[in-house]
Amino acid sequence: MNLETWTKVDEYIDQMLVGEDEALKAARRASEEAGLPAIAVTASQGKLLMLTAQMIGATKTLEIGTLGGYSTIWLARGLAEGGKLVTLEYEAKHAEVARKNIARAGLDGIVELRLGDARKTLPELAKENGGPFDVIFVDANKDSTPEYFEWALKMSRKGSVIIVDNVIRDGTVIDASSEDAGIQGIRRFNEMAAKEKRVSTTAIQTVGSKGYDGFAMALVK
Ligand code: SAH
Ligand code: DHB
Ligand code: MG
Repeated sequence: MNLETWTKVDEYIDQMLVGEDEALKAARRASEEAGLPAIAVTASQGKLLMLTAQMIGATKTLEIGTLGGYSTIWLARGLAEGGKLVTLEYEAKHAEVARKNIARAGLDGIVELRLGDARKTLPELAKENGGPFDVIFVDANKDSTPEYFEWALKMSRKGSVIIVDNVIRDGTVIDASSEDAGIQGIRRFNEMAAKEKRVSTTAIQTVGSKGYDGFAMALVK
């Protein structure tokens, strides 16, 4: 089993079940053309984000790490009538591409993109009483994942779902002596989640066109 097989199976799942539409395809294309890194969630993962939001009837979603807005579009489509999404991004170029992609998908009325370092914009959002958020997708710089998890907890309510992307990283997450700050961030997040009485958490390993990685999912109790 290898990346080639995983990619083919992802294509099969996408064709069979996911139904990525023109706006999503255009978002992916525009992001690539603008030279953004190809690290957006896959279509099947994006649909899982949408379904998660729909399952809990989300009306407020927070995303940390927008990139070109691909996951943003899926998450925003999962919102119930009248719902709103806030997404945080600190690269101006990524934000510019994302704004266009979000507008093309007809979601600019319900998506607010805040440009700036999430370590600054999160405390601002909390001060404005921006929450509580029903779904929080953590997908920015991995070394700050523990900090983002703290803010996610502060701005959530009983029943909120916190999803953290990229928690497996080719299995390197189990290397306690890793010198990768991202891995250490993920490991600290796992320790926090394990100890944290307010959440019940699991992590799922995934393979697909993005290789071998995974995500964590926490339910706020
Ligand atoms: N969620 C996107 C992918 C996000 S990639 C998708 O699946 O489609 C991670 C993004 O987080 C990048 O665009 C990067 O610029 C942004 N980022 C990294 N550190 C950040 C920080 N401190 N504050 C805000 N955004 C950050
Ligand atoms: C990277 C970031 C991501 O959010 C992701 O899903 C995959 C890779 C990265 O920074 O390498
Ligand atoms: Mg990611």
